[in-house]
Amino acid sequence: MSKKLVVANWKMNGDIKLVKEYSQLFNENIFSHDVVVCPPFVYLWSAIGINGYHVGAQDCHFAKNGAYTGAISPKMLKNLGVKYVILGHSERRENFAETDILVGRKAISAQEEGLIPIICIGESLAERENGEVFEVLKNQLTFSIPKGDYPVIIAYEPVWAIGSGKIPTPSDIIQVLTFIKEIVPHAKVLYGGSVKASNAKMLLELDCLDGILIGGASLEVKELKNILTEF
Ligand code: PGA
Repeated sequence: MSKKLVVANWKMNGDIKLVKEYSQLFNENIFSHDVVVCPPFVYLWSAIGINGYHVGAQDCHFAKNGAYTGAISPKMLKNLGVKYVILGHSERRENFAETDILVGRKAISAQEEGLIPIICIGESLAERENGEVFEVLKNQLTFSIPKGDYPVIIAYEPVWAIGSGKIPTPSDIIQVLTFIKEIVPHAKVLYGGSVKASNAKMLLELDCLDGILIGGASLEVKELKNILTEF
């Protein structure tokens, strides 16, 4: 199996103890896949410099600096040694009213700083039931993915699969990935939503899939280790 990208999204979870557990896990094991760890902003500094994984942020602002209280710029992340940034996660689209246009703006700024954006797209359950999956994805791809050949990662995360224990069938995933790659051929494409050790092998065996994005399961280092050694 070819080398895949495994992204751990802690969301607003974790603490210094978890950073230390990660450090121990990666000191004691060499995994054959590329790993990106995305802790909350306040733990980025402590998570950087540990061998075995790259560090990503979970969001950024589009501006380089300025009067944006509470915000973090791509430039600051780059300065710290961060390599990736998750943008447009459905939780940010929903809870912080982020639009495709805003996500696209952030992604362009991130790329200009040399960060690799991991842009999340995915349909809601209602959109799926209404047969609107491809229309929704096309819109998200058109407006939130920057044009041009800069490195970009797209995470297909059906909203109904996040934290629910449900995942799409392999053939559904293949169909969506093929669709994404037709529109953005140079992108790497990940799947996210209820990934755990019990389904990681099936997912990572899909040739068209470049990797996985793990939420809840990444908070348990034992489960993460199982995922990383599953294949
Ligand atoms: P989950 O989250 O693995 O807990 O479903 C994935 C995500 O939201 O990135």
